[in-house]
Amino acid sequence: MNAVYEKLLKCYDSVRERISFRPEAALVLGSGLGDYGESIRVEDVLDYQDIEGFPVSTVPGHKGRFLFGYVGHVPVVIMQGRVHYYEGYSMDDVVLPIRLMGLLGAKTLLLTNAAGGLNNGFVPGDLMMITDQIANFVPSPLIGENIEELGPRFCDMSQIYDKDLQDIIRGAAKDLGISLREGVYVQLTGPNFETPHEVKMCRILGGDAVGMSTACEAIAANHMGMRIGGISCISNLGCGMQDKPLSHKEVQEMGDQAAPVFKALVTEVLLRCCPEEKQ
Ligand code: HPA
Repeated sequence: MNAVYEKLLKCYDSVRERISFRPEAALVLGSGLGDYGESIRVEDVLDYQDIEGFPVSTVPGHKGRFLFGYVGHVPVVIMQGRVHYYEGYSMDDVVLPIRLMGLLGAKTLLLTNAAGGLNNGFVPGDLMMITDQIANFVPSPLIGENIEELGPRFCDMSQIYDKDLQDIIRGAAKDLGISLREGVYVQLTGPNFETPHEVKMCRILGGDAVGMSTACEAIAANHMGMRIGGISCISNLGCGMQDKPLSHKEVQEMGDQAAPVFKALVTEVLLRCCPEEKQ
């Protein structure tokens, strides 16, 4: 069997030995949203380190665990702390948790992150719905022998962020009175922030926000047919667009500041994306 798939199934079995919960939706929490789990009805918690073979995050401020619980009526699995490529993991490991949440039953995936703004119209604290992405600066997680059990070798990416889910996110923001930006997310490897010319390059390529996660996760999820939505919190403007050096602290602080609005939007989107009659 494909070694990547074998590892994934091992993790799946390890989770299922302890957890019978069946999520409808999966949520990945970015910087600032880390304590979102405290506002939901948690049924089960599973530390990444207790899952056999699971990659464990090393970033300060990122908790490493799955929460299983309910947002209103919706059964969700939440990743509190994601795995980043810059930590040194293979791309297979970076997307393993996403694939795992898909195998556990999640059909909808909501990806969140903190990102640097590239669009001159953005200000720190803005929320941006991701409409498309540029992932070519990191290896595709689909490189290597294709896992036929998950999806096709040559996978269509024409609508990676689901159009209906985009309408749901737009509608939820409008009804909550949240001003929502929209744009293209560019993933770079990190962990260093960009130089001013790298920021300029990303803008010329059509990017509106830049970050170090998310796009590779969306590719893996799209490969296995999940419905994907994405929201970035613009924690800072890209390097060279503001007059002070960038720091992780700044990213975290703005994430914390935007958190109440971000959380309200995420909750409303989850409630709307899985209507009650479908449960
Ligand atoms: N660049 C890359 N990743 C980021 C940034 C940034 O400016 N802000 C938050 N994550």
